[in-house]
Amino acid sequence: MKEYPFSKGLEDVPAAESVLTYIDGQEGKLYYLGIPIEEWAENSTYEEVALSLLLRRLPTKGELKVFDAALRSSRDLPEEVIDFIYDLPPQTHPMSALRSVVSLLESYDEDARRDDLDAKFRIALRLIAKFPTIVAYFDRVRKNLDIVRPNPSLSHAENFLYMLTGKIPTKYESKVMDVALILHADHEMNASTFASMVVASTLSDMYSAIVAGIGALKGPLHGGANEAVLKMFDEIGSVDNVEKYIEESLAQKKKIMGFGHRVYKAYDPRARILKKFAEELSKESKYYEIAVKVEEYMMKKVAQKGIFPNVDFYSGIVYNALGISTDLFTPIFAISRVAGWAAHVLEYLEDNRIFRPSSIYKGELDKKYIPIDQR
Ligand SMILES: CC(C)(COP(=O)(O)OP(=O)(O)OC[C@H]1O[C@@H](n2cnc3c(N)ncnc32)[C@H](O)[C@@H]1OP(=O)(O)O)[C@@H](O)C(=O)NCCC(=O)NCCS
Repeated sequence: MKEYPFSKGLEDVPAAESVLTYIDGQEGKLYYLGIPIEEWAENSTYEEVALSLLLRRLPTKGELKVFDAALRSSRDLPEEVIDFIYDLPPQTHPMSALRSVVSLLESYDEDARRDDLDAKFRIALRLIAKFPTIVAYFDRVRKNLDIVRPNPSLSHAENFLYMLTGKIPTKYESKVMDVALILHADHEMNASTFASMVVASTLSDMYSAIVAGIGALKGPLHGGANEAVLKMFDEIGSVDNVEKYIEESLAQKKKIMGFGHRVYKAYDPRARILKKFAEELSKESKYYEIAVKVEEYMMKKVAQKGIFPNVDFYSGIVYNALGISTDLFTPIFAISRVAGWAAHVLEYLEDNRIFRPSSIYKGELDKKYIPIDQR
């Protein structure tokens, strides 16, 4: 049998070429289109980041204006889709609700039946516009609150918080949400991006590709970690219990949520930015105190192994301080990452080849078939 190199979990196996995002895992640096993430967070908006990723370059003022206007006018959902949200059982996880609604939206989009990249770009724009609406509508419906229609005079981040709470957020709250969305927009070849690309590479449709991304992001080893971090803080309960909790978890080989990364072997630069917001928003809160203590203790225990806080460690504290329900943390990740999924799909389809890896067969060969009544 032919021998192939094997890397469990495809570690260090490049699956595509891309100009979108570069991670320097040793130095803890992240770049979109060659520009450090800190510069995007400081100077840009989520709308501009999303368009830059889709275009693979910085847009002109005119291009951004047109894109922003199109986002604002594409936010609402078809009435039949809103009815579907009302029909979802309230115990549905918001990520599952998002997955189902995105699936359904395909039926209402003429472009879904076109194969060209322009049609896929337009779908990407519509999905970026609609993700916050889906999440906010579902959250309000399950809480027996009236839905709040999108307000086209508000930015992407502002409007999301407005649809969620019914109140226009402060400038500071909008800035925090905008930066959180900027930080999550893309991250090289992660599990959900790869899932989207695998589906797109079969020349399936854009909606199926994005639905695959949502499914992969939901897991606690990926986007679901931000929700798991807050649950972990609740389990820890108090600062005094941190050392005992970590010692016991590490002894049982249990992962500390919000720590570790396949690529970063240094502090995740996104976590650094979110930690600052967490401190500003909730310095006095129990969660922030526990988080700082967990970080301190983990640094002593595992930093030498290259395990540091990742993006999910402080994001939950930030969202919690903004009054957002814990199970919406991963959907917020999706609201941002949909831009990255779509950008990678569009980039890959320009020179597509179907993903078809192999596996190493570990079974026996030429065995005899045994009839069922003789087994
Ligand atoms: C992100 C993650 C899935 C990466 O997984 P991976 O690259 O396959 O790394 P591994 O699970 O093989 O871990 C490598 C080593 O680091 C340890 N490690 C990794 N993350 C850890 C964590 N969060 N807590 C404790 N130990 C951890 C592993 O136990 C393993 O130790 P060993 O070599 O002594 O067996 C993993 O770090 C993790 O599960 N983290 C927690 C979930 C999380 O925060 N995910 C969000 C990622 S942005």
